[in-house]
This record gives sequence, C-alpha cells and structure tokens, in this order.
Amino acid sequence: MCGIFWYQGKETHAQNILLNGLKRLEYRWYDSAGLLVGNQKEIKLVKAIGKVSNLSEKVQKEINAEEQFSFGIAHTRRATHGGITENNTHPHYDNKQQFYLVHNGIIENYHKLKQELIAKWYEFYGQTDSEVIANLLTEHRNGNFLETVEKILQIIKWAYALLIVSPLAPGEMIAAKIGSPLLFGHDKDNNFFLSSDKQWLIGYVDQLTYLEDGDLLHIKNNEYTVTSKGIPTQKPFEEMDIKEIESSKGNYKHFMLKEIFEQANIIRRIFKWRVDFQNKILNAEAFHGMQNENFEHIVFIGCGTSYNAGSLGKLWMENLAGIPASCEIASEYEYRNINVNSKTLYVFISQSGETADSIEVLKMIKEKWWHTFGIVNVVGSTISRLTDYGLFTRAGAEIWVASTKAFTAQLSCILLLALFLGKKRALPKAKYEQILRELAKVPTMIEDLLADQTQIRELAQELKKYNNFFFLWRHYQFPIANESSLKLKEITYLHSESYPSGELKHGPLALIDEKIPSVIFCPQDFLFEKNLSSIQEIKARNGKVIAVSDKEIEGSDYTIKIPKTIDDIYPFITVIVGQLLAYHTADILWKNIDKPRNLAKSVTVK
Ligand code: M6R
Repeated sequence: MCGIFWYQGKETHAQNILLNGLKRLEYRWYDSAGLLVGNQKEIKLVKAIGKVSNLSEKVQKEINAEEQFSFGIAHTRRATHGGITENNTHPHYDNKQQFYLVHNGIIENYHKLKQELIAKWYEFYGQTDSEVIANLLTEHRNGNFLETVEKILQIIKWAYALLIVSPLAPGEMIAAKIGSPLLFGHDKDNNFFLSSDKQWLIGYVDQLTYLEDGDLLHIKNNEYTVTSKGIPTQKPFEEMDIKEIESSKGNYKHFMLKEIFEQANIIRRIFKWRVDFQNKILNAEAFHGMQNENFEHIVFIGCGTSYNAGSLGKLWMENLAGIPASCEIASEYEYRNINVNSKTLYVFISQSGETADSIEVLKMIKEKWWHTFGIVNVVGSTISRLTDYGLFTRAGAEIWVASTKAFTAQLSCILLLALFLGKKRALPKAKYEQILRELAKVPTMIEDLLADQTQIRELAQELKKYNNFFFLWRHYQFPIANESSLKLKEITYLHSESYPSGELKHGPLALIDEKIPSVIFCPQDFLFEKNLSSIQEIKARNGKVIAVSDKEIEGSDYTIKIPKTIDDIYPFITVIVGQLLAYHTADILWKNIDKPRNLAKSVTVK
C-alpha cells in the first residue's frame, strides 16, 4: 500500500535520506511520491507523479543544496480516493498551511467531515480523505499542537497511520496510528526514524519499536514521549534483526524467479531447526507450550496466498490430526456469526503479519479469549505479536509482490503443526514416519524440478495464445490450483478459474472448447483414476489438457512430469509447477513480473 518514511536528526540534508529510502522501496506499486523537509524556519514541499526519479529531479531543482533541513517526511501513494494527480499526492496541508501531514489508511467518515468543512468555507485542492484531516486540524486548532491533534483523533474514524508537523510548532512531530502499521526507531547517534514498513528502516536504525493502535508519539526538542490511549507509556525497543536490504537479483532474470529458487533451501532451514529426522521428533518451541491443550477444532484464517496455504492446512488437519478444520477468508469471516467452542485453535497465516483483514479477525478472536496461533514471516509484525503461539516461517524477506517462497514456507510450518497435533491424536506411527521420510526429500525434489524448465517454457509459448484458463483439482490439489490460478492472474493479467474436477459436469463443461486450456493437477494420489475420467470429459469437448503428474497421462496434450512422492506431500511439488507456468507465461508476454499492476505487497487497508 502507501508508504511513510520520516527522519529527524543530525543530517543537514534530510531530503537525501528520504530519497534514498524511497528508492529502495521502488519495487512496490505506487503512482506518485512526495516529500517535505523542514527546519526551525520553514517547510518545503515537493511532489511528483510517477517514479521516484521524477521526484528526485524536482527536488534537485526546487530545493537549494545550500539550505539545511534536519527533518523530513516522504510518502509513496497508491491512489484510492481521487486520481493520480500531484494535488492528491502526499504530504497534504490545510487551507492556512498550518499543518502538514502524510496518511496511510482510509478515513471512513471523511465524506461527512468534508461536507461540514465545505459548509464552513474550507476549500479542497484534491479529492483525498487525508486532506480533510489537515483542514480539521486548522478548524480545531487551539494553540497547542498536541491537544489539537488529540482532538481531531477523536473525530476521524480510522484506519490511519498519521504523521503531522506544523510550522507553528517547529521541531515537533506527532505520529498516531490505528489499524495501519507504524514503526519507530533510532540509531546510536540519536537520529530518529519512523516508517510504515520495516524494510525502510534497514540500515538506518539499531533499535526499533512497534507503535500499537491508540499510541501517539510526540517528538519535541529531540525528545520523544509515547502515550497509549492517553496514558504515558514506555515502549519496549528491540534490536533491528535485519541488517541488509536484499537488493540484488544475482543471475536471475527477475526477483520472482530468484525467490522461486530459494524455496528448497528455505524448507531445509525450516526443518533443520524444527525436525530431528533421525529420531523422528518435532522440536518447535511453540509446540512445547501447547502440549496440554486438546483442540477440538482448527480454523485457519488468511488472505490470498496465505488463505491458499491455510486451505491445505485444513485438509492436513482432517487427514493427519483427525481434527475437524476449516479455512476462512479473513475479509469475509469478520462478518460471520461464529459458533465455535473454546477448544478451537485459530491459526492466522500471513507473510507480512500486517494484513488489515486478518488483523481485524485476530482482534475479534482475542476479544473472545480464544486460542490463537500465528504462522508469520515478518518477525515483530502485528500478527506475530498478537497471537498466543506461533511459528515464524523464516523465508527471509519476501519482497516481490507475487508470493512464492512464503507459500511453501507456510506449508512447511502448517504441516509440522498438523503432525504435532496428529501425533497427540489419531495419526498412526507408520504414517507419521512415512511423512517425515518424504518431507526430508522435498527440497531435493524441488531442486530437481527447477533444474530443467525447458518443457514448461515451451508450454508457456503455447499458453500465451490463450486468454482464459481452468486450473482443476481434487482434494489436496485444491490449494495448489487456487494458488496457481492466483499467480497467473497476478502477473500475466490473464483470466483463470480454479475448479474442482468433479464439478465440471455440474456447469463449467459448457465453457470447455479448444479455446480454454485446462491445467489439471493429477499426481498419482488416491483420486488419480477420478482425475483421468475428468480429462476424458474435457477431451471429448475438444478442450486442451495440461496434466501435472508423476505419470505420463495418456490422452492429455501435455504432461508436466513431477517427482513421485505420497499424497500428503505432492502439493509441495505441484505448486512449483504452478509458479513456473505463471512466471514463464508472464515473461514471454513481456509483463512487468516484479511489479504487477494494481497490487501491493502488504495490504494494510481493509
Ligand atoms: O502478507 P499476507 O500473507 O497476509 O498477504 C496476504 C495476501 O495479500 C497475499 O498473499 C497476496 O495474495 C499475494 N500477492 C499473492 O501473491
């Protein structure tokens, strides 16, 4: 989503730090960028549509290199309220230019507030909800910066991460948040930084803390205070754990491909710390605290790729742990009337740990005091902090929008959880040991598959001619078909649907002809024969079939061969095929794979 970066400290040309920060996050989708710099006397504002390089050029022209600025705020905007114009680009200011701010999130009652301000003769240069906040500040100004901000925070309806400065209060900055993430950090020389994104702070801060909902940070005369819902609080600082930003794609053509290749080693790393394959013991710390719990129901919650991972979790829980399970889309679950008992474990899956929809459900579940478990990649993120138990996926920073390595890392952790709970319940020892044996081979199987992509590349040459696709599945391949379909949509912009093979005859067969290829995930699992019948149904209607299997499928147009394993483990392998199909098709179509249109890495608004 939008990004915020603030600096105050010893640097005399704050704009240099801000522009460097903006450049390193350029891979995110944004449509415009802006910054302000200031000192005790003045505030200067520069905005530009398009790339950070446009902003950089304008800064060179409009800010005199001899002037000194010790603080500044930068912002990248992805349009929500109002078009992509300079006027809608942050930072925003009020009619009297007394308050300047940047804002992430959406002010839900902005329309009503705007009408009230217009009735009082306020004028608006743009269409954003953020500009309304600036004018509200002027409207409620009482001569005290902090009190004025506190007043308007009672009026606006979140979500927000807000940073406000005022020429009337030189040297002061106020930050507040509800819903959208905000991190505060400093280095050894007392240079202060604030950002919506941990990535932004890498290399700048040694210590950092996460602002919680209701926190308000006030910087004045190089000192800071934090209040939490009005009460002064001491924030716990922690050491910055990431030292360098991943900025090189090495020999890979795209960052996405690099992350696809990282998967084998990530899975090795996850298992190295958590599974003693020789003695067949699961070592994860999170499990020790859960030894005495007897969960009767598991609910997985996630969005996008993380939802797909949870869908596999549901099947593993049913099959291996013998526990009824469901997987829910966070943005929907929030509005449901839930009837579960207190022996339910809620498993929140999220790469970023900052997805607003998932956080909303997590808060709702916590209010009921139900058990929560997080499977999260970003250490210190909101979901990792709010859940009772958890496993970090340790996939390293997943920077690129189309999630790949986070997914297989999530699967690895979810399977360990299912094995842990299964061991306490219904899972036979022989099955448990068989799974561990096959699991140990997964990284090598992935490497074997990645070693030769000629066939998938050739196939992608063919697939680029089509506009619509089916991804077909049964049972364990459901999440994989969903994920493959999502990947294809995200980076090729082609339409695809994920559908259960058994449902074809109940409607979608009407669509099948030579213009719609069907990718069918049909490893030799317990439903293999059934999938063969589905292939016949498609072929009888002249549909093109691409089978993903460990056996050459007679009658299909192509078989993408995968290594042989067992039913529960195939998804680790078939998903790699789905990722590669999407990747190569997008590459052949010359799509901007690492920066897919309209998408953001971390979706921190609802
Ligand atoms: O950070 P999260 O895992 O919570 O993000 C959830 C989705 O927004 C994310 O998986 C999204 O679907 C990816 N772009 C998929 O590639």
